[in-house]
Amino acid sequence: MFNRDIIAAFEQKETPFFYYDLQLLQATIDNALTEADKYKFHIHYALKANFNERVLQIIQESGIGADCVSGNEVLKAVETGFSPDKIVFAGVGKADKEIIAALHHDIFAFNVESVQELCVIGDLAKKEGKVAKVALRINPNVDAKTHKYITTGLDENKFGIKTWELNECLDVIRNFDSLELIGLHFHVGSQVVDLNVFKSLCVKVNEFNNWFDERGYRLKVLNVGGGLGVNYTDPDGDPIVDFKRYFEIFDQFLERKGEQEVHFELGRALVAQSGSLISKVLYVKNGIKKHFLILDAGMTELMRPALYQAYHKIEHLSAKQLSEETRDGSVNYDVVGPICESTDCFGKEVELPESKRGDLIAIRTTGAYGEVMASKYNLRDEIRYVYSDEIV
Ligand code: LLP
Repeated sequence: MFNRDIIAAFEQKETPFFYYDLQLLQATIDNALTEADKYKFHIHYALKANFNERVLQIIQESGIGADCVSGNEVLKAVETGFSPDKIVFAGVGKADKEIIAALHHDIFAFNVESVQELCVIGDLAKKEGKVAKVALRINPNVDAKTHKYITTGLDENKFGIKTWELNECLDVIRNFDSLELIGLHFHVGSQVVDLNVFKSLCVKVNEFNNWFDERGYRLKVLNVGGGLGVNYTDPDGDPIVDFKRYFEIFDQFLERKGEQEVHFELGRALVAQSGSLISKVLYVKNGIKKHFLILDAGMTELMRPALYQAYHKIEHLSAKQLSEETRDGSVNYDVVGPICESTDCFGKEVELPESKRGDLIAIRTTGAYGEVMASKYNLRDEIRYVYSDEIV
């Protein structure tokens, strides 16, 4: 991904910064849309993965919809130009003011996560003189086989409506003229790379779709969520599951009734690969048992390793500028940040070329859940960005 010109340009910039390869982002989106279009599938982009202005603009211009999880995300989507009829609003704890704002914008649908929430939306919509379109988020109890912190579809998770509450949901919907049931919503977890998980999800969706159909509800939308994982180990290699295989599974295993639409809420798979966190080595510390590379980026810029023990490939960019003969040997480093926490570590025993102060390091595949999860802890600087079209 990084040629010598790009690395030379990085050397002129203040670090740390997120680098976004906008051409790669566009290519990824085009690929996803081409594969989804084969089956007339609809994609909504999960803003939570990355709401950087430029990234969001490119996604909006491609015609993809927006999946939002807060009132502010809804407003951001509207401001960015996403058409309200392509905006969905999910989230387990929607506040009244957020619901009202979304009603005012006449968004496409609320993905509703509890019977209580259904009543609140019904009430608020009535007061506002609106009809709220709702999809019921059902917790299907499907194991996403991913990290437990990003598993959402199990009985023990806080998300979604339990299956035994569905009759009650229908009672509420019948009682409110201000509610229109348009569909079902599911999401089992993130960074899913086992296709069997999506097959199991389809089987469950079919069961619920039948259940509603038998009760006279022919739903307009089946929203199967997001979760498609990416290749963190080899950022420049092929995806573990490409969009072609992913959408094929849903075409094959999901039973659509009549004109039913299938909606997806992809976050990570659209944006992860196009981002990298670029940092400089501040200090090289040779301890008794360990060698440490202390970077100017930390868990405040990229929280995933500290929070989920997530792997991100670490590359030594300055060494790529040197010819093979002039490179020194390699050393196993613990690559750490400057934050006052022992969990502020990007990787342990990472084999890298022998390093010195000022060397450039790239932490790869940080386009999703990178800058959006950044914090000001230790009163850190604002996040900086560099976009590919500024330097090539
Ligand atoms: N739909 C719903 C209802 C979700 O909860 C999520 C993600 C998505 C869609 C998008 O999932 P994706 O396609 O990006 O996997 N911070 C964690 C990931 C949290 C995901 C939360 N929900 C991480 O850094 O791995």
